[in-house]
Amino acid sequence: MELTLSIVKPDALRNGHLGPILGMIEEAGLKLVALRMLHLTRPQAEGFYAVHRERPFFSSLVDFMTSGPCVVSVLQADDAIGRYRKLMGATDPAQADEGTIRKRFASDIEKNAVHGSDAPETARTEVAYFFRELDLVER
Ligand code: RTP
Ligand code: MG
Repeated sequence: MELTLSIVKPDALRNGHLGPILGMIEEAGLKLVALRMLHLTRPQAEGFYAVHRERPFFSSLVDFMTSGPCVVSVLQADDAIGRYRKLMGATDPAQADEGTIRKRFASDIEKNAVHGSDAPETARTEVAYFFRELDLVER
């Protein structure tokens, strides 16, 4: 069983899309094993997206991610990382497939509703960024 970190981003919470997004996650067979709501501080958002710190969109991304509360969760399934990336759809909603979260709920390439880890190593780091071992439940 693999773990991946999901974030329902501030745009999705602001627009009332948390419930439908969690529903899509559950319907896809990705099991929620930890979940919390938080409002990221600037240092927390900068740390989380540190790999992107040299990119031109970095400060805008940090503004966006600190613009309101978000919901972080850990999903567990066989191939959870790949399956959740597929359910999310492409970063740019204009490129996202029908039936994906971003096709339904993203506004643009930045305000794109959700985050998902992109590889096993990043999943481990990202889960540990928000959760302790004891926060993960057995289901
Ligand atoms: P994420 O990390 O949030 O799951 O998204 P991703 O892998 O699909 O995309 P990534 O390249 O890692 O970018 C991280 C987030 O930065 C914002 N972004 N803005 N303005 C832009 O050109 C741009 N490109 C990316 C998005 O919020 C993206 O999800
Ligand atoms: Mg990414």
